Amino acid sequence: MSKKVFVSGVQPSGKPHIGNYFGAMKQFVELQKEYSGYVIIVDYHALHSLQNPKEMRANIISVLLDFLAIGLDPKKIVLLKQSAVSEHTELAWIFETITTMPYLMRAHAFKDAEAKNKEIDVGTFNYPMLMAADILLYSPDVVPVGADQKQHVEIARDTALKFNRVFGETFKVPEPMIMKDVAIVPGTDGRKMSKSYNNTIPLFASYEEIKKCVMSIVTDSSGGIPKNVYAIHKLFHNEKELKKIYEEKSGKYKELKEMLIEDLEKFIAPMRRKRKEFEKDIPKALAVLKEGSEKAKIVARHKMREVKEKIGVNVW
Ligand code: TRP
Repeated sequence: MSKKVFVSGVQPSGKPHIGNYFGAMKQFVELQKEYSGYVIIVDYHALHSLQNPKEMRANIISVLLDFLAIGLDPKKIVLLKQSAVSEHTELAWIFETITTMPYLMRAHAFKDAEAKNKEIDVGTFNYPMLMAADILLYSPDVVPVGADQKQHVEIARDTALKFNRVFGETFKVPEPMIMKDVAIVPGTDGRKMSKSYNNTIPLFASYEEIKKCVMSIVTDSSGGIPKNVYAIHKLFHNEKELKKIYEEKSGKYKELKEMLIEDLEKFIAPMRRKRKEFEKDIPKALAVLKEGSEKAKIVARHKMREVKEKIGVNVW
């Protein structure tokens, strides 16, 4: 029996933090044991907020190195770059012609932007159509995403159903796979770890950076167990053992933080070393992405041929 297939996308948005790792990246590495899959670096999706070619290039390479360093195996997972497979934007256009404005106006991302009175670019408005194309081109069984992306996967499902209704059975309707148990990793201030809160611990932090981040964790002054330290610590240490240690060292914030630094270093150091290795040969890493994109292109082209047949534009 052939393996089930997943598709997911990641924005090339700079340095990942441990919240990104537990919230999404790690899942892909785990899924590769049982699934075959496609992980798409969605550079065209990022374009509406990242309009600096130097930064765009650097970020694409950076996210590629990140995924190789955490152990994504290109033999099992196809790593591709969205802009290298033009079928994504081509199919997005077709989807746009069968989708109404009021329907897309219900998308959270659009409503949020509108509520902030932002002048919304058409790309942001159509974002879910390109994402639907990313997904549906590869006929996946599941789409692993964070809870915030659930609606986008539902839009992709609706779009598949709509196309199938109008033009006949063409697209497989995928299931969302919400990575909710691990989605919320607390930051150094106790709120959700997020770049916008400035409370992150970088996934590939140096020892010095780890130290700085941990020392900045906000501790409550009421004595006892520093809950923000504990909330992060339990991701890296057996919880039963950790509970005991925290009880024994009640009030000794500095010692507990030092222990967290060592646990973080133990966890991060191997990945950091691997990333450094990949960084030494960027052309080789890029070759992996290029090869992945070529593999994906074959599948996407095949699907597009079927789509063109269905809509009747293939006259020769
Ligand atoms: N919208 C997703 C995010 O911001 C990224 C994404 C783009 C994606 N295309 C996708 C996720 C396809 C899953 C499947 O996180």
